[in-house]
Amino acid sequence: MGRPIRFLLDGEVRELSDIDPTLTVLNLLRYHLRRTGTKEGCAEGDCGACTVVLGELEAGRVRFRAVNACILFAPMLDGRALFTVESLGREGALHPVQQAMVDLHGSQCGFCTPGFVMSLYAVQREGAPTDTASLKDALAGNLCRCTGYGPILAAGQAMGEAPAADIAQALAAIQPAEGLVLEHRGRRFFAPRSADELAGVLEAHPDATVLAGGTDVGLWVTKQQRALPTVVSLNDCADLRYIEDLGDALRIGAAVRYADAHPVLAKLSPEFDGLLRRLGGLQVRNLGTVCGNLANGSPIGDMPPALIAAGATLVLRKGAVRREMPLEAFFLAYGKQDRRPGEFVEAVIVPKIAAGRIFKIAKLSKRFDQDISAACLGLSIGVEAGRVTDARIAFGGMAATPKRATACEGALSGQPWTRETVEAAVAALAQDFTPIADMRASAAYRLEAAQNMIRRAYLESGGAARVLDAEAVAYG
Ligand SMILES: Cc1cc2nc3c(=O)[nH]c(=O)nc-3n(C[C@H](O)[C@H](O)[C@H](O)COP(=O)(O)OP(=O)(O)OC[C@H]3O[C@@H](n4cnc5c(N)ncnc54)[C@H](O)[C@@H]3O)c2cc1C
Ligand code: FES
Ligand code: FES
Repeated sequence: MGRPIRFLLDGEVRELSDIDPTLTVLNLLRYHLRRTGTKEGCAEGDCGACTVVLGELEAGRVRFRAVNACILFAPMLDGRALFTVESLGREGALHPVQQAMVDLHGSQCGFCTPGFVMSLYAVQREGAPTDTASLKDALAGNLCRCTGYGPILAAGQAMGEAPAADIAQALAAIQPAEGLVLEHRGRRFFAPRSADELAGVLEAHPDATVLAGGTDVGLWVTKQQRALPTVVSLNDCADLRYIEDLGDALRIGAAVRYADAHPVLAKLSPEFDGLLRRLGGLQVRNLGTVCGNLANGSPIGDMPPALIAAGATLVLRKGAVRREMPLEAFFLAYGKQDRRPGEFVEAVIVPKIAAGRIFKIAKLSKRFDQDISAACLGLSIGVEAGRVTDARIAFGGMAATPKRATACEGALSGQPWTRETVEAAVAALAQDFTPIADMRASAAYRLEAAQNMIRRAYLESGGAARVLDAEAVAYG
């Protein structure tokens, strides 16, 4: 047995030892700590009823993040502060967030309410904007089936600020000097504190489950009831949580979460802003990592098509040995990636989008927010003097892996950027993909939607207007 997990709850240091490493924070709260204010709705990160707030020290400042307790493993609390809806309680008075929810009629059955309150509390503690659009983003991961969102948004605008104790020193005092090693009934959990240590632990345990944000792995436990014998978390490797500007590219470390990558990628292209805004809800983006999305290899993951189109390179590491590959080469077959035992994704390198390139991302899902894609396009096309110089087009949701549309690309390259060329490229998509039919979309719908995404990219790029204004109008 190593040292215990140490975290702050309502400003007090709590220690946990001898627990199941994949015990969720939701179950820890409800069954061990008897804090039943935090609710279970879906147990898969979708509904936000279980939202709690994590306080983390980042560059000397405390960041407050709303997260889903149902898919967060208890060891991930180590060195952090946890706030639940009970943390807001005051003798004889409601917290201003709670008061605003009461005053503005933001609750009916109340099942979702603790989650909304905690998402709003995170907004308040972060000092984040409370205009309607920002609040909608902050609350997209909280579902309410009876109140309606108007009163809840109004509560968010009325909650104001509230004085709160600074926990930076208390958090600094519990920062561990060494990584976490837990063993419980034959199950092990490691949380090394550097990339070198991580590489060593994974070499010693090549079959371990690598854990980043857990927004996929958490569901293996809560939905598939899988027992994970050995888990190695990279969440405490500070040297994997960086975004480095390489001049012509960004290098994004394995521990970088969507929420932190979002503003940086949005500067590369507003298309990334549009995509990341819709990737999960904020709770998912506060935990999930860009590299985890790539490592997971899902055919319907959103980052692969966008980053393949951008020309990204994946950096893998095993021990001290690194290898790099074009991102598209990583996806071998359904559920099979080119990752060797003991190897991990260390970073992804994303080239900056050159000025003048046509760069588009299009995500099609049944629900606008917090939904998995039926199909997702990443497209990057160079056009010079009215002619396509090169094309990188990738799709998610169209094959067993995220995949480049090479026939489509071939039909574009070297051709004039016209409606006829685009129609030829659109027709070629049928050679690239034989999509599946599932509950998200039929095969025919997927193909037609994918073809229309390319037509739309053409029109939105100015389409034929780059060559001949009138043609774009006729095409519409
Ligand atoms: C409610 C909800 C909504 C979602 N919505 C979307 C969506 O809209 N679009 C979308 O694309 N995804 C979505 N997801 C899926 C999920 O958020 C992403 O796949 C996420 O990026 C995974 O990252 P993570 O850090 O949480 O990975 P984890 O869950 O920790 O790991 C995922 C997989 O990758 C492996 N892994 C992680 N990091 C590494 C590494 N550095 N090296 C080697 N292996 C590694 C793990 O072993 C595991 O196999 C959603 C999930 C939830 C719960
Ligand atoms: S219980 Fe639904 S998101 Fe956690
Ligand atoms: S008040 Fe009933 S689900 Fe929101």
